[in-house]
Amino acid sequence: MSARPDLSVEIAGVRMKNPVTVASGTFGYGREYANLVDPRQLGAITVKGIRLLPCAGNALPRHVEVPGGMVNAIGLQGPGVEGFVREDLPFLRETGVPVIVNIWGITIEEYGEVAARLEDAGGIAALELNISCPNVKAGGSSFGTDPLMIASLVGAVRRRTRLPLIPKLAPNVPDIRPFALAAAEAGADALSLINTLPAMVIDIETRRPVLANKTGGLSGPAIHPVAVKMVWDAARTVHIPIIAMGGIMGPEQAIEFLIAGATAVAVGTATFIDPTTALRVISGIESYLTRHGMKGVKDLTGSIVIE
Ligand SMILES: Cc1cc2nc3c(=O)[nH]c(=O)nc-3n(C[C@H](O)[C@H](O)[C@H](O)COP(=O)(O)O)c2cc1C
Repeated sequence: MSARPDLSVEIAGVRMKNPVTVASGTFGYGREYANLVDPRQLGAITVKGIRLLPCAGNALPRHVEVPGGMVNAIGLQGPGVEGFVREDLPFLRETGVPVIVNIWGITIEEYGEVAARLEDAGGIAALELNISCPNVKAGGSSFGTDPLMIASLVGAVRRRTRLPLIPKLAPNVPDIRPFALAAAEAGADALSLINTLPAMVIDIETRRPVLANKTGGLSGPAIHPVAVKMVWDAARTVHIPIIAMGGIMGPEQAIEFLIAGATAVAVGTATFIDPTTALRVISGIESYLTRHGMKGVKDLTGSIVIE
């Protein structure tokens, strides 16, 4: 019998036993799903965004289903860095799986402070920087839509921590390549892409926006081809690993991301429909590698055929 394919990958110096994690905000802080999915089977656990202080999030309703996905405006609800370290980190550490903490802030200093405190807490493998947030010191425009702002943010956080940094790129830009490059040149160890796309849903009977926040972020199958293009563009621009996400519903979309150039993938919205999606994706990748006579995931990453 031939050997099983090697599913392990390395992202920013972090060894993952398989290339599958969960997308930030869709798996809570791990414990919420522990009865449904054994988190120890994942390649890494990526948790919901953490900022310095606890945050209540937006008013209800905060999400709505649309054809091909959902629009959410949860508003980055969370326990703050101290609450996370006290209540959630001990469980996550015990899983033995690399923990990627998604962080955010409304100033560069806040990102830096959260990063420094998380490094001090110990037991964290890497930080994913959610840059789809308003920079209040730059008139509220998003960090993620200005390459210069990405560079100063990544550079500033880099000076506050030795933890690997994974900026998560925003998709609402005309060309992802300068953004990927700016992040890499400022010291990013890997990239995540993509975050949700800005979206809106209107109730035609009341003529009012459905979400209390009026607008939100589109996720799910509808954004998958957009994400594939961005992953392909980023992968041929920078030489750091990419974690790809956006509309993975099963192994096929994950494999597509790997072929486009991703080293690892994250399952998001699909977890709300079937909490075991990430596990199905892991076994589906393994079957694909076996069927194609590939030794490991590394044979698949960037294997796109362009005539
Ligand atoms: C309910 C919900 C909450 C999310 N919260 C976060 C978050 O806290 N930080 C972040 O960077 N991305 C967040 N995201 C974006 C996802 O991590 C992911 O990038 C996006 O949903 C695309 O993947 P998907 O189509 O598989 O869901 C959230 C998405 C959803 C649906």
